[in-house]
Amino acid sequence: MLPLKDTDKPIVQKLLSAGCCARCVLRFCCVSVQAPYRQPPQETLELLRAFIGQKHDGKVQNSSTADDSSHDAAGEPPSKRAKLDPSEAAADSQGHACVCVVCLGVLQGLCGAEQAAKVAEAVREGNYDFDTLLLSVSLPAQLCVREHSCWLHVKKEVRDKGLALTKDDVIQVKEAFKWTMQGLIAKELGGVAVVTKSSFEVGVEFTHPETDSDCHFLGSSCPDCFKPTKNKQSVFTRMAVVKALEKISDASFLELYPCPPTRASSSCVPQDVQCLHASVFVAGRYNKFCRSLPQTPWLIDGERRMESSVEELIAAPVLSVFRADGFNFSSSGREDVDVRTLGNGRPFAMELLNPHRSRFSEVEMKQLQETINKSSDKIRVRDLQIVNR
Ligand SMILES: *[C@@H]1O[C@H](CO)[C@@H](O)[C@H](O)[C@H]1NC(C)=O
Ligand SMILES: *[C@@H]1O[C@H](CO)[C@@H](O)[C@H](O)[C@H]1NC(C)=O
Ligand SMILES: *[C@@H]1O[C@H](CO)[C@@H](O)[C@H](O)[C@H]1NC(C)=O
Ligand SMILES: [Zn+2]
Repeated sequence: MLPLKDTDKPIVQKLLSAGCCARCVLRFCCVSVQAPYRQPPQETLELLRAFIGQKHDGKVQNSSTADDSSHDAAGEPPSKRAKLDPSEAAADSQGHACVCVVCLGVLQGLCGAEQAAKVAEAVREGNYDFDTLLLSVSLPAQLCVREHSCWLHVKKEVRDKGLALTKDDVIQVKEAFKWTMQGLIAKELGGVAVVTKSSFEVGVEFTHPETDSDCHFLGSSCPDCFKPTKNKQSVFTRMAVVKALEKISDASFLELYPCPPTRASSSCVPQDVQCLHASVFVAGRYNKFCRSLPQTPWLIDGERRMESSVEELIAAPVLSVFRADGFNFSSSGREDVDVRTLGNGRPFAMELLNPHRSRFSEVEMKQLQETINKSSDKIRVRDLQIVNR
């Protein structure tokens, strides 16, 4: 049973006719319980068809239901509507599911056990220390445009549900994706908790080159929204698109973009899974026993001037043990090559970027310190420990 009411029927009918997938139909019916999203989409589709009174063959069982919704599609002759049969909408002539006009496949074939196994594989390959995991999803900006178009398509019917529902009540693609995937990924990784806050983030990203230019019309409707920024490949970022969609009137939007959205021939393309562990900070004190050792590497015209630096002597072993991608090093006091730092030593701290290992016992930290001490006679480290930011 789907948690739908009679008032959802015209919405379901319209969305299926427009070429929405089963999960997108649930989203636009504002179904906010997670379980229905986890059902196989093909089963949900069957249930949705049965709900609006259609059999597998797509014949309308209860003609009064179909008539109910027909007056919503204003301006279209009944003959044209009759051809937009939901069963045709959701599958091609071979019975393959068509790419959803709203999520562009993200909630179809890209949201299931197979995809979860790929994500889990990428996580295992990284060989990270973690006990919880945050799943983040990055979607192509043009999906917002399709979402908006679809919202305008069913706006009246959604409002007619009786409650004061708005676009914000529509479940986001991201949410529906996570609701479906989190449990599957957790299972693949032997029951790790997938949570909303974690120092370990697993990023899934989708692109859809076929429709990349879909949001370009917004550039003329809201030039202010699309200012070029450094280190961004395109001005059509998701945030800018969302902002432009908030500003554009329904009438202008409908003039410039099809409603409902047009079909796409290809599904979104999943990008490489990105794993990122929050920085870990290590601190300690060092003494150097060599006057000519600089604190940071000296580069002149790209050439290394000194053989080694304090920073490198400490950082290299730490970096390799934490299997981090990079580091930031800072120490207090003067940065003068010729000043020997004696006494208790000069305090330093190091930020380790994306460390694959992050849990160390006191004994292991002592061992690391010893490795540094033994690596050269120019430097000694003490009080080496993991600290917070
Ligand atoms: C068709 O559906 C409507 C409401 O959905 C219902 O009132 C009516 O009794 C149904 N008619 C038949 C023949 O099933
Ligand atoms: C640390 O290093 C990274 C890359 O090397 C850099 O992007 C970041 O701004 C640095 N952070 C600080 C606080 O210096
Ligand atoms: C490293 O050298 C410092 C300074 O001599 C010393 O205090 C510290 O105990 C040494 N640590 C290890 C683990 O060797
Ligand atoms: Zn969809």
